[in-house]
Amino acid sequence: MRVLITGATGLIGSKISNACREKGIDVHYLTTSKDKIENHPDYKGFYWNPSEGEIDEKAIEGVNIIINLVGASIAERWTDEQKKKIIKSRTETANLLYKCLQENKNEVQHLVSASAIGVYPSSLEKLYTEKDQGVDDSFVGEVVVKWEEAVDNFKDLGIEVAKIRIGLVLAKNGGMLQKLKEPVNFSVGSPLGSGKQWQSWIHIEDIKGIFMYAVENKLTGVYNAVAPNPVTNKEMVNFLASQMGKPVWLPNVPKVALKLVLGDMSRLVLSSQLVSNDKIEEAGYHFQYLNLSKALEDLIDN
Ligand SMILES: NC(=O)c1ccc[n+]([C@@H]2O[C@H](COP(=O)([O-])OP(=O)(O)OC[C@H]3O[C@@H](n4cnc5c(N)ncnc54)[C@H](OP(=O)(O)O)[C@@H]3O)[C@@H](O)[C@H]2O)c1
Repeated sequence: MRVLITGATGLIGSKISNACREKGIDVHYLTTSKDKIENHPDYKGFYWNPSEGEIDEKAIEGVNIIINLVGASIAERWTDEQKKKIIKSRTETANLLYKCLQENKNEVQHLVSASAIGVYPSSLEKLYTEKDQGVDDSFVGEVVVKWEEAVDNFKDLGIEVAKIRIGLVLAKNGGMLQKLKEPVNFSVGSPLGSGKQWQSWIHIEDIKGIFMYAVENKLTGVYNAVAPNPVTNKEMVNFLASQMGKPVWLPNVPKVALKLVLGDMSRLVLSSQLVSNDKIEEAGYHFQYLNLSKALEDLIDN
């Protein structure tokens, strides 16, 4: 079996690439950086420049499954230019890959793509399942809708599509945990806004596990990828501080201060998504990390 991975050099992509190689699955990957191209028998990089419509067509040779993880970081200040980049890095890339498949003979049957739980409207009470159709009235909501539409187009080519709505990924190096750890480390960690907003987190091992499960079991449709026990922001900060052996004694950071510092992007930290993972569990996936304390114990070295 051979997979083609976009975003293979990123936080999640690098984990999934390694998991594939360990299972004897050949990896082809597309990268925008020529210096990230490697050429091993089971791990080959190919260049693409989506904004110029350029793609090395050899990338799809012998590929059965595509894992789509490409996307410019959403945690950069949301200037107009950055907003365009965030959207295009998800839609232009999908469209370019679509065109490449349309124009070249290939054996691709399945696409497993990243998406995000940020699509669900922010709410302190509602528990979201994949059946909920509402869209958050923020930039993130807009991004996810356009992203999932671009991914759904692949069905026109006879390709089965799975969309994995990823929660807040907790990993040792990089991602959200790194950002949360910094203030706590200097003993200035405190809940953000009311601290009551839900944070549906997932350990990186489980995100890797769910993508591999989707590939191996040919899952199709939408799946939420979050751990079974989401926490509020206040609980997240308290668990983190306790694991790091630091106090949390400062008052919450007021919403208005966050808006001043982060602008529109404050939505990212203030938004509340309480998300159910029943569907992926019912599909047979067993989570490795169910509780935040266990996940942090694994990820934080004291
Ligand atoms: N981490 C999370 O908490 C989280 C939560 C929800 C959803 N997701 C989604 O899951 C996917 C993977 O996340 P991640 O954390 O692994 O991301 P990441 O570490 O930022 O990696 C994303 C990869 O996308 C490529 N890329 C970045 N900007 C690009 C651009 N403008 N044009 C084309 N390619 C670009 C880069 O690959 P090259 O440099 O090799 O080209 C990069 O390695 C993303 O789509 C992200 O939005 C992540």
